[in-house]
Amino acid sequence: MSKEAALQFDLNSIDRDFIDNPYPVLANLRKHDPVHFNSDGSLYLTRFEDVKAVYQDRSMISDKTVAFKEKFADGPLYKHHTTSLIFNDPPYHTTVRKLLAHAFTPRKLAEMEPLISEIVDRLLDDLRGAGDVDFVTAFAMRLPTEVISFMLGVPQQHRHKLRGYSLAILGALDPVISQQRLDNGNHAVAEFSELLNDLINHRRNNPEGAGQGEVLEALIFGEFEGRRLTQEELIQNCIFLLNAGHETTTSLMANGAGMLLQAPDQYQLLRDNPDLTDSAVEEILRYESPLQIGNRMTTSDTVIGGKTIPAGTYIHTSIAGANRDPDIFDQPDKIDFTRNPNRHIAFITGIHVCLGATLARYEGKIAFRRLIQRYPQMQAAGEPERMPLARFRGYSNLPVRF
Ligand code: HEM
Repeated sequence: MSKEAALQFDLNSIDRDFIDNPYPVLANLRKHDPVHFNSDGSLYLTRFEDVKAVYQDRSMISDKTVAFKEKFADGPLYKHHTTSLIFNDPPYHTTVRKLLAHAFTPRKLAEMEPLISEIVDRLLDDLRGAGDVDFVTAFAMRLPTEVISFMLGVPQQHRHKLRGYSLAILGALDPVISQQRLDNGNHAVAEFSELLNDLINHRRNNPEGAGQGEVLEALIFGEFEGRRLTQEELIQNCIFLLNAGHETTTSLMANGAGMLLQAPDQYQLLRDNPDLTDSAVEEILRYESPLQIGNRMTTSDTVIGGKTIPAGTYIHTSIAGANRDPDIFDQPDKIDFTRNPNRHIAFITGIHVCLGATLARYEGKIAFRRLIQRYPQMQAAGEPERMPLARFRGYSNLPVRF
């Protein structure tokens, strides 16, 4: 690839090749035009230090009311994304984050550990003798869906709907979307909101009925500086938690399984050294970051990578690009489960750093340790298919044989 190709690149007109394998394009941008302007005036950053600096800069904002009004107009998607904490700034962001943090205290997470092991064992039991299966539906999405459903008290009969909802809602965040995707996203938020409204009302009236690991009650009755979340804020932030809690973690599982198949030497290394599972999970997060692109906006003229960026510039941060930056990672395109140090930013850094990172890591470590122990000979059973999304990297389909 050439400098010309880097200068011509436009994030708003990417194709399927980019989605299937963005890394060569990201490497070319990083080399020739790391602080890159797209045709609409937005910025695309691919260097680790630039991306990290943006996340650590308190003058950058996450608020997207203006951008989302243009993209979604009024409607359920607009309401959802502008109410969830991820697209808000202090003081609202601080309030919601403090309240959600009740769900992620070390005590709550310690309570989750035996539950995660129990779910993993049950799902792996189900795979015995299953023959050829799609790893995504058979395992990757089931574990995080069950975990986050426990936490928010979503009953069994509704859990199968969550992945469809989250793909529709998060899929609408891609840089360019069709009318069909917009309609699907609006429909998903509307239906999901009704479901959450009922669940929240039920728990509000029956707080003593909460099950093991459930945190919904803490979100309903929790207070920060004398303020509780309104019903609408509760609904939209619970939808966000359910989506954040399972979509990216599903990709962690599936991307990891894909990497085991892609790098048999590393698979063998893990079979021989189960104690490397923790560092393997970090490498999976670095090498195939489930969230590939983030956003921030400048509120004042800011120097990034030596260029002065005007106030009001919309920034796309390439988490995927940052995590393959050769200035930070030795041989960044090589899968190395022993990589140390491995200071990737798959969970970003700064005030919006992922609240569920510890939980996702628990899920990854327990799942891969037991998967490899019980099924040491997993093989590919057909061509895998990537999700058709630029922002989120995972598989729609990963055929395997146990
Ligand atoms: C491998 C799995 C995961 C990855 C890669 C991931 C990644 C991220 C990233 C990159 C952000 C920052 C987005 C931004 O501000 O631009 C984020 C935020 C967040 N994540 Fe995760 N996440 C994962 C799993 C989870 C889980 C399991 C939960 C909850 C159960 C969760 C809950 C959240 C929440 C609540 C935020 C918003 C934090 C804030 O705005 O202050 N995530 N995540």
